[in-house]
Amino acid sequence: MQFVTIDPWPTPEPVDYRPELEAGNVLFFPSSPFNLPERSKEFLRNLNFSGGAIHKNVAYKPSLDRVTGVEMESDRLQRLHEIMRDYSSMVVEFATALLPQYAPHWKLDYASFRPVEEDGRDLPLNKRNDLIHTDAFPSRPTNGDLILRIFTNIHPSKTRNWITTDPFPVIAARYAKDAGLESIARDAASAAGRLKNTSVRFLRNAGLPVVPRSAYDQFMLHFHEYLKRNGDFQRNTAKYRFDFPAGSTWLTFTDVVPHSVLSGQHALEQTFIIARSSMANADQAPVSVLERLCGKPLLETGQPAR
Ligand code: SIN
Ligand code: FE
Repeated sequence: MQFVTIDPWPTPEPVDYRPELEAGNVLFFPSSPFNLPERSKEFLRNLNFSGGAIHKNVAYKPSLDRVTGVEMESDRLQRLHEIMRDYSSMVVEFATALLPQYAPHWKLDYASFRPVEEDGRDLPLNKRNDLIHTDAFPSRPTNGDLILRIFTNIHPSKTRNWITTDPFPVIAARYAKDAGLESIARDAASAAGRLKNTSVRFLRNAGLPVVPRSAYDQFMLHFHEYLKRNGDFQRNTAKYRFDFPAGSTWLTFTDVVPHSVLSGQHALEQTFIIARSSMANADQAPVSVLERLCGKPLLETGQPAR
C-alpha cells in the first residue's frame, strides 16, 4: 500500500483519485486543503474534558445538525456545535472537488473531534484503536457500500501516528475463512436466517431499535473484533508506519485499509458512505472480495445498489 501525496491542491489538471483509494492507498495532503480558522482550532484544543465529560469522541451528526458524546454548559456547547458544523461543510466542499464521481451518490455520515491523547488510552478491547482493524459501525450497516474517512491533525506541533497493513483483499484472503465467513454466509442464506432478517426488518419498521444486518455487515462487524483479538495478526502482519504532521489532512477507505493509531491528540474527522455503484472498480469492494472467497451472495437480493 502507498501514501499518495497531493501537493499542490487543487491539482493543475483534474485527476480521478478513485482507483488509488479503492486499491487501499491513503491520500495525503501535507497542508490542509481547507482552512479552519485558527481560533476555532484553539477553542477545540482548549476544551477541557477531564472528569469524564466525554464519551469516546465528540460526534457531530450532519443530517440532524446535532453534537453528541459530550456534556458541557450551553454557551461552550453552542460554540463547539458551530465549529463542528463549519468543519463538516468545509470538508464536504473539499471532498466534492476531490472526488466528484462519488459525491452525487455518497451518504454523509458523522463527523468527530478526537481530543484525547491516543497513547495509553484505557478503552475496552473492541473500542481500542491502537490495535490494527478494519472499520464497521454497529449502528449503521453499509450493505456493501464503503467507509471513507477524512482526517485532519489540528494539534499545533505533534504528529498523529498510524500503522496500516496490506489492504482488504490480502488480509481477507488470509483471515476471512478463519474468522467464520463461510458460516455467516451459510446461516444468512438458510431459511432460519432469512426468517430472522424478515423479523428484524418488521420490528425496525414498527419502530423498535433493532438493526437489520446483511451477511456482509455481520461479517464486517465480526471481522473488526476478530482482527483486534488476533495476536498472530497483530504481531506478524506487514506494518507501514506514517506520522501525519500537525496541520496535515489524509483520507482512506477505513474498511479497505486496516489501520491503528498509536499516538496523537486533537484530530477532526468526517465520514462518508460511498456507494459501491460509484466506484471506479466495484469488484474491489470488500463485499465483492468476500463473495469471491466464499462463493455465496452476502447482500440480500432485490436490494437496490444506491
Ligand atoms: C480509527 O479509525 O481507528 C482511529 C483513527 C484516528 O483516530 O486517527
Ligand atoms: Fe478505525
